[in-house]
Amino acid sequence: MQFRSVKGMNDILPEEIRRWHGLEQTFRRIVELYGYAEVRTPLLEQTALFVRSIGETTDVVEKEMFTFERGKESLTMRPEGTAGAARAYVEAAVHAREPVTRWYYAGPMFRAEQPQRGRYRQFYQAGCEVFGDPGPICDAEMIDMLVLFLREAGVVELEVVVNSMGGSTTRERYRAALVEYLRPRASELSEHSRRRLEVNPLRILDSKDEHDRALISGAPTILDHLEDDDRRHFDGLRRALDALGTSYTVEPSLVRGFDYYTRTLFEIRSQAGELGTQNALLGGGRYDGMIKSLGGPQVPAIGFAVGLERILLAAGEHERSPLPFCCIAPIGERAAHAGLRLARGLRERGVRVELDGRGGSLKSMLRRADSSGARLCIVVGDAELERGVVQLKDLALHAQHELPLDAAAEHVVERLRAVEPAAMHEPPVGGAD
Ligand code: HAM
Repeated sequence: MQFRSVKGMNDILPEEIRRWHGLEQTFRRIVELYGYAEVRTPLLEQTALFVRSIGETTDVVEKEMFTFERGKESLTMRPEGTAGAARAYVEAAVHAREPVTRWYYAGPMFRAEQPQRGRYRQFYQAGCEVFGDPGPICDAEMIDMLVLFLREAGVVELEVVVNSMGGSTTRERYRAALVEYLRPRASELSEHSRRRLEVNPLRILDSKDEHDRALISGAPTILDHLEDDDRRHFDGLRRALDALGTSYTVEPSLVRGFDYYTRTLFEIRSQAGELGTQNALLGGGRYDGMIKSLGGPQVPAIGFAVGLERILLAAGEHERSPLPFCCIAPIGERAAHAGLRLARGLRERGVRVELDGRGGSLKSMLRRADSSGARLCIVVGDAELERGVVQLKDLALHAQHELPLDAAAEHVVERLRAVEPAAMHEPPVGGAD
């Protein structure tokens, strides 16, 4: 019996992982420059947390959650990171310690969606949440940070779209206007949207049904219903983005799939790479009511999450250079011991080393070194050890020369710097990025 991975859940094999590490490091580096600190919350939360924060009549809560019973509890694999971060913020009473909190996270999320390119059932997000800053300067800075991150990640053809959902008063007024527009046309709506007309009409704006979309295109927009405070906030966001020189489009039909949003909403899309229809690289927005609704004080919040698979698809084969790589071929046990010490010295200097401990003839070891992809191979033999030297072979040039053992690590690093300069920009093993 051969097993396969669960539908929509993929293995990431070592040949792909370098790109993941590169992307994750770029994300950490950029968000830490903006003052975010990492938070790690559990993959499982009480189901009620997601129902309460994301909204009972959203697609995610209605159809896409991996939920199971354990004893008397109903638990759910997190479909996104915001609810868990907000729960942790309230639980640890972080507001009492700091007026503004900036958190980031990265990890797997789970949604039982129909898998296709760029859409999976287990997927990876990296995201940020800011608690305690009402914006809109903060909102614009977050969007600008994301443009910087995507550029650093090698994604081109970016399109930033923004909208405002307003606050609760705006929402009520808009809801009434939308229902007034849609009710006479209810018979033309898809069955799913017709049901939503009574329970959560704003979700109809999110419908993927083509007929629904045509109807919606004539509907009143939320931007025409913004209350004064919400309008001022949105205008402030636009002025700040203009001041930063960040290009964006206002898309009044952007609603996004969660009920928790208030005021600022944004998405960044790209037409580049192999994204296809799943061209939203990231999405986010303000959720000024969530902390209170989870039992905390009134604390405004904003955040986003990027889909890491989608960034990798959009960035195409933008390979990071591999670590500089050297093999060591020891002949005999004494040589292997010297080789172990030499390998450690090289790794401390940021060089990837594979020590061939399988034995055999020098010829077979060199053949293996050659097929491993290493540029250099250090041969350590008994006779050489007696004289305190090793042989360094350049496998590309078929050249060889002798080095003093105690200066070998330094020499190899210099040589790799000369032949593989791009790779030598990598941070040393264990070093900070
Ligand atoms: P979201 O728009 O549902 O927002 O997801 C953010 C990003 O995650 C999407 O733009 C997409 O790149 C990626 N993504 C979502 N679902 C999938 C999937 N099934 N397969 C692959 N990638 C996917 C959120 O999750 C909010 N929590 C963002 C946020 C944070 N809002 C405020 N704070």
